[in-house]
Amino acid sequence: MKNIKTRIGNVEFDSCVSLAPMAGITDLPLRQLIRKFSKTCLLTTEMISSESLMQNIDHTKILAYEKNEYPLAFQLSGHKPWMIAKAAKMLEQRGGANIIDINMGCPVKKVVCGGDGSALMRTPELACDIVKAVKDAVDLPVSVKFRLGYTVQEQNFMEYAKKMEEAGADFMTIHCRTRSQMYSGKADWASICDVKKEIKVPVFANGDVVSPQSAKECMEISNTDGVAVGRGVLGQPDLIYRIEHYFKTGEIIKEPDTVQKIEWLKEHINEEITLRGEKVALQFVRKFYPYYIRGVRDAAQYRAALVTEESYEKIMKLLSELQEKETERYAS
Ligand SMILES: Cc1cc2nc3c(=O)[nH]c(=O)nc-3n(C[C@H](O)[C@H](O)[C@H](O)COP(=O)(O)O)c2cc1C
Repeated sequence: MKNIKTRIGNVEFDSCVSLAPMAGITDLPLRQLIRKFSKTCLLTTEMISSESLMQNIDHTKILAYEKNEYPLAFQLSGHKPWMIAKAAKMLEQRGGANIIDINMGCPVKKVVCGGDGSALMRTPELACDIVKAVKDAVDLPVSVKFRLGYTVQEQNFMEYAKKMEEAGADFMTIHCRTRSQMYSGKADWASICDVKKEIKVPVFANGDVVSPQSAKECMEISNTDGVAVGRGVLGQPDLIYRIEHYFKTGEIIKEPDTVQKIEWLKEHINEEITLRGEKVALQFVRKFYPYYIRGVRDAAQYRAALVTEESYEKIMKLLSELQEKETERYAS
């Protein structure tokens, strides 16, 4: 039995696994599906632009949360210390946020061109000013998520981590790739193995954790306090729970079969409809189909049918038919 508790400032939880923030993915419905299994992991919203929060536009969907989400980190992006601080204060006053996370890792051109995301790794003093400004503005713990560096030649994660801690960061997640790698190549867990020799606050490693075994390997190789799981949860919302169970007991819970995964897809669709309304939700969920139906017989055919279908009833019918076929396939 292993103790997997984490303490971030005054936020303590019985897990060393977090859901990594993913724009357009880690919304309320997906987080709720994950919470059905893992009651204690750290959840993170998708990135929310501090600049857009200052504008008079509707943020209800991106800011939606439920009480059972504790501990929940709201992730902010931006590069102006005063603006991120103001956005953080707004989130604190609104309720729901237990931690404010700052995006220092997004590699997307549009984001880095504006000086946000991983561009901050090239402006560490500005990144420190952001952390200090947010710490001054809110009583919540403040965390940062960054990469190994901007390019292979500029791998400044160690110096950067020290600066973040000095500035007051209570927690950090390191995605073990550089900005120039984007999402390609294998995450280099070993590169950060000395970080915990210098950093006292909890550090989670991130990148390519897709199973309980890879989570354990990642933690051992990176020498960190925990792991952040991103794309691995797609199609398997129980993954974080299975990782936690493995860490606690050493037992591997079997990966669910395709019939179960399709059931989760149905739930996910229904929750998205509740949040966004049927028309928008049915477009929005298209990106999730390949993950939930991976491994079924005739997957490509079903995927093509699902992504072009606009009727809720027909989508549900197709999914039920697929479940029946998969059940028969397992029986034969
Ligand atoms: C579709 C997508 C959206 C993402 N959005 C964010 C984001 O909003 N904020 C952030 O810090 N990282 C974002 N990331 C990066 C992930 O948090 C994570 O660092 C990366 O996917 C590597 O972890 P993984 O291999 O477990 O997916 C995103 C990644 C993907 C694939």
